[in-house]
Amino acid sequence: MIRNDDVDWDGWPVRDYLGENYRELHPSDAAVIAHHAAFYRRFAPGSARRSLEFGAGPNLYPLILAAAVSRRVDAVEASAAGVAYLRRQLARGPDASWLPFHALCRRLDPRLPPTLPEALAAVRVVHGDVRAVPSGAYDIASMNFVAEGITEDFAEFTGFCHHFVRSVVPGGGLVAAFMENMPTYRVGPASRWPGCPVDPATVTEVFAPVTERLAVTRINADPTLPDYGDSGMVLLTAVRRPVTPPPPAGRTPCRPARCG
Ligand SMILES: C[S@@+](CC[C@H](N)C(=O)[O-])C[C@H]1O[C@@H](n2cnc3c(N)ncnc32)[C@H](O)[C@@H]1O
Repeated sequence: MIRNDDVDWDGWPVRDYLGENYRELHPSDAAVIAHHAAFYRRFAPGSARRSLEFGAGPNLYPLILAAAVSRRVDAVEASAAGVAYLRRQLARGPDASWLPFHALCRRLDPRLPPTLPEALAAVRVVHGDVRAVPSGAYDIASMNFVAEGITEDFAEFTGFCHHFVRSVVPGGGLVAAFMENMPTYRVGPASRWPGCPVDPATVTEVFAPVTERLAVTRINADPTLPDYGDSGMVLLTAVRRPVTPPPPAGRTPCRPARCG
């Protein structure tokens, strides 16, 4: 069983991954963008002091979507290759292939800046491990195709999901997309990556104890994308469960033997 630390993420094949998934806007991207845009429309413009993209990889559309409501967006990513791609996009200007993504995001959330570079202006790339993100550091967190695509260990998948939930303040907003039932998968001609098959029931089981207002839906597999052995995508919104307040100082919880 391959676990997260067994993998050299610096060698993540960014070019092949982009070519297979994001060089054009596929119907499944459009469905994820529609789902996520509806989530962001619940928030007032600029209301999130800091938002997190958890395992950002080279995908720009979640960063674009966060722009309408976030004063700063941290794209946390472990792979040197992924970080280098993101930094190039911000420094030299984004690839033209992201323009249709920006156009759709803006059609669904007209509060987004009119140009793609402006939509990415609040993004800060953080080269690091998502497990090092401090609890409660963000107002909103987004995770796309990460926890189920970076380990084969279901317990570790659960741990990554719970890190994701804990990254926001209690009551903070969460939005996520998962590949559904994806086994270990290949990107490009040769490379093999760990996968942990999950479905709406497993995602619900993992998130229900630590969240509230949990909404889990799914979409069918997209025939225009490579076959990673998945059966579609699972989409989630939730808020982090507020911490149960401690009893007032000097008083203990009422127990039948003491009370009355
Ligand atoms: C399947 S890709 C998904 C990328 C992107 N979120 C997307 O929407 O396409 C998984 C990403 O997680 C990153 N990753 C793996 N382990 C990580 C860790 N412990 N901390 C941060 N990023 C990690 C990988 O480098 C890779 O970019």
